[in-house]
Amino acid sequence: IRRIGILTSGGDAPGMNAAIRAVTRVALANGFEVMGIKDGYRGLVEGNYIPMDKSTVSDILNRGGTVLGSARLTEFKDLEIQKKAVQTLQNAKIDAVVVIGGDGSYRGAMALTKLGINCIGLPGTIDNDIPGTDFTIGFDTALNTVVEAVDKLRDTSSSHHRCSVVEVMGNRCGDLAVWAAISCGAEIVITPETGYDELDVLERLRYLDKAVKKRHAIVVISEKIADVDELARKISQNTGFAGRATVLGHVQRGGSPSPRDRVLASMMGEKAVDLLMDGVGGHCVGMIDNKVTSMPIEEALSSPRHSRKDLYRLFDRLV
Ligand code: F6P
Repeated sequence: IRRIGILTSGGDAPGMNAAIRAVTRVALANGFEVMGIKDGYRGLVEGNYIPMDKSTVSDILNRGGTVLGSARLTEFKDLEIQKKAVQTLQNAKIDAVVVIGGDGSYRGAMALTKLGINCIGLPGTIDNDIPGTDFTIGFDTALNTVVEAVDKLRDTSSSHHRCSVVEVMGNRCGDLAVWAAISCGAEIVITPETGYDELDVLERLRYLDKAVKKRHAIVVISEKIADVDELARKISQNTGFAGRATVLGHVQRGGSPSPRDRVLASMMGEKAVDLLMDGVGGHCVGMIDNKVTSMPIEEALSSPRHSRKDLYRLFDRLV
């Protein structure tokens, strides 16, 4: 290979820029040329490429978002579009691509590899929902954002004998919620893994109010499970707490990446280039048991997601 392309796809995540920088600098240091592909798979198909040199990636390590832009292109599942993408890459003399994104992005990387362009996937999402790694790029920063917000909500909830219902992102994965709940000492955590029973939640809050005499209560809940405004209303009607709902929303996706995310992204970016130099394609990079590893994307996508049973048990023991 002589020329490596790099793209970010799906929801952006803090640390994506650190990964772009690492791939670019390690590739350049090894004598490759690097092309940045704008706006994910859309830019890839349309040939929206920009040459990257050392200075293109200066001053981006500490910036959130992705300087290459990102998009979700569902049509990329279509074989004709994939073939068009391969043609466009070949015209630009790009022999290999590093894709930073979620599982949809990994599928695209796998498809391109099968069509002759070696691709490596890096897990970039705040959700921590990608198999093949213990942690994704962006999760730690988003967790810090959530924890800061919940700590603040706790202050005001405590002053007013309120229950704060805080909705966090996660794309059907409870990691952000349960890590935040443990970090913040939340009273209740509701995720796709715990399931949701409204009556149980109200009962527990009544107990915390009457028997435990809590001054406040924090409920951390993953998105797409319940209408949090409705739940807050029911809490006000059925428990001694006044309920208030806060949807943290896209604020969780922004901000300067934490040092941990910067280092994780840099290590993964380096590994992606090493794999391409070894002629490997169709693999994804992960951090497993504190070691940077890689495995075929197919294997990662068909393996079960990491179990967080230990964390849920810990949460239950701490409340
Ligand atoms: O995958 C990242 C994520 O932020 C999810 O947590 C969330 O469900 C989704 O993206 C939101 O997507 P959008 O930015 O398209 O609204």
